[in-house]
Amino acid sequence: MRRIILIGYMGSGKTTVGKALSKETGMMFYDLDWYIESRMHKSVSQIFAERGEEAFRKIEYNMLHEVAEFEDVIISCGGGTPCFFDNIDYLNQQGDVVYLKAEPETLYKHLLMGKVERPLLKNKTPEELIAYITQHLKERAPFYEKARYTLDVTVLDDYDKIQVSVATLRTLLKLS
Ligand code: S3P
Repeated sequence: MRRIILIGYMGSGKTTVGKALSKETGMMFYDLDWYIESRMHKSVSQIFAERGEEAFRKIEYNMLHEVAEFEDVIISCGGGTPCFFDNIDYLNQQGDVVYLKAEPETLYKHLLMGKVERPLLKNKTPEELIAYITQHLKERAPFYEKARYTLDVTVLDDYDKIQVSVATLRTLLKLS
């Protein structure tokens, strides 16, 4: 039984890589944010707006404990998931955790291209956004760095490069 868990900052490509890896391996893919949204019948943004971040983290914790029990799956976590409660230790117990690592400039670029609304990044000017990402990533890095594996995704900006990252990941995890 394999369980592959992708973590990393917002915009690091967890969902993109997870989906691509799922397509190649045939393992089921779960995105924790999507799972939360379907179970709660609300978007992550709505949960943040109506109930606040603390309530969201509790919901995220509970949903994580459901998804991370599924077998033979690839799971992409939210950017904050490993940084609350004992989540990172739990994740390391549950499967092969991979940190998708990128520099703030790359994350910033990906986030500008993405369409997903992220409550923590709302209403920021480009300057504020890059400063926020730089500082926030520094605070979160000690959690991310507890992952068993690290994959550098700085170059993840087109289809071919995603395929290269997926191939690297398959080698790293010795997946056939
Ligand atoms: C968050 C990241 C988001 C989502 C929520 C909070 C964070 O997921 O869980 O907006 O704290 O970094 P993505 O990393 O998939 O954007």
